Amino acid sequence: MDISEIRLDIEAIEQNAALSEETNFNSRADAIDNLEFNVIDRIEGLLHTINRPDELIALKQYADRVKRRLEDINNNLFRRLRADIQAGGCRGAVFKSLIDQYVGRVSSGGSQPPDEIGYDSLDLFINGLLLSQAAPTETKDREPEMVYYQQTPARIILELVEKAHLTEKDIFYDVGSGLGQVPILVHLLTGATAKGVEFEPAYSDYARESAVDLNLSGVEFINTDARTADFSDGTVFFMYTPFAGRLLQAVLDKLLAESQQRVIKLFSYGPCTPQLARQSWLKSIDQNEAHLYKLGVFTTLL
Ligand SMILES: C[S@@+](CC[C@H](N)C(=O)[O-])C[C@H]1O[C@@H](n2cnc3c(N)ncnc32)[C@H](O)[C@@H]1O
Repeated sequence: MDISEIRLDIEAIEQNAALSEETNFNSRADAIDNLEFNVIDRIEGLLHTINRPDELIALKQYADRVKRRLEDINNNLFRRLRADIQAGGCRGAVFKSLIDQYVGRVSSGGSQPPDEIGYDSLDLFINGLLLSQAAPTETKDREPEMVYYQQTPARIILELVEKAHLTEKDIFYDVGSGLGQVPILVHLLTGATAKGVEFEPAYSDYARESAVDLNLSGVEFINTDARTADFSDGTVFFMYTPFAGRLLQAVLDKLLAESQQRVIKLFSYGPCTPQLARQSWLKSIDQNEAHLYKLGVFTTLL
């Protein structure tokens, strides 16, 4: 790709009026991605090989300007939608139709292959909407069996909501809740009380501040080790592999004790799913336990 081709690419994006329409979120996400990883990366690569880089520097500034203009459209959109959530008018079916309007209808599990995590424009939309601040750095050392923070793809959370049939009587727990977007999303979509248990205080503080900022009263974040958490009111649990081995087994044993008091549902994602499938007290509902990156769905055996 030479300099004039790169310029034509940027101009094509700049002159595409449809990208300025707020509802064209997916096309705008693709254009931002193209500018960042195709155009700007390419220019930076060429800058190292050319003696008089003035033209390239100007081209990079042009690409940056066009990219910032598209990002500003998203930022204004998120500000307006956050104000709707804060005012209390954007919950349940209204919130779901908002997602459909901007990102399109998301089918169960999406189109990702079952052995890859895969993030998409739905994640960009949900992150822009719910995670408005930069992520904090960790403050505590993790034990070897504790897994680092990585977020659940949003399409998996939508699938969980579809399959869990949560009502306002349910108490949902995300075990190892990181920055908190799972409980926040579950609460916004269902009205159920949603709680997150998180070992790292910087993460649970972040999650709590996000919920307060969105004016959500049915969401709670508890900073504790899942081994010592009180799960006695929980009816539906989710874990995106927060830990492994004996630590995972210790928390599963706690949930076993809870399941002797009432029926609970358990959802999982990632490499923890096979260990859940080996628990004699759990029944796999849709035989996804061999697929690490499909949603695992379990219920208590009575
Ligand atoms: C793979 S991330 C999942 C985060 C979150 N569920 C999400 O999808 O965005 C695992 C999380 O579990 C947390 N974690 C690890 N060990 C924990 C423990 N013993 N008790 C509570 N949380 C723990 C980590 O700090 C991390 O935030």
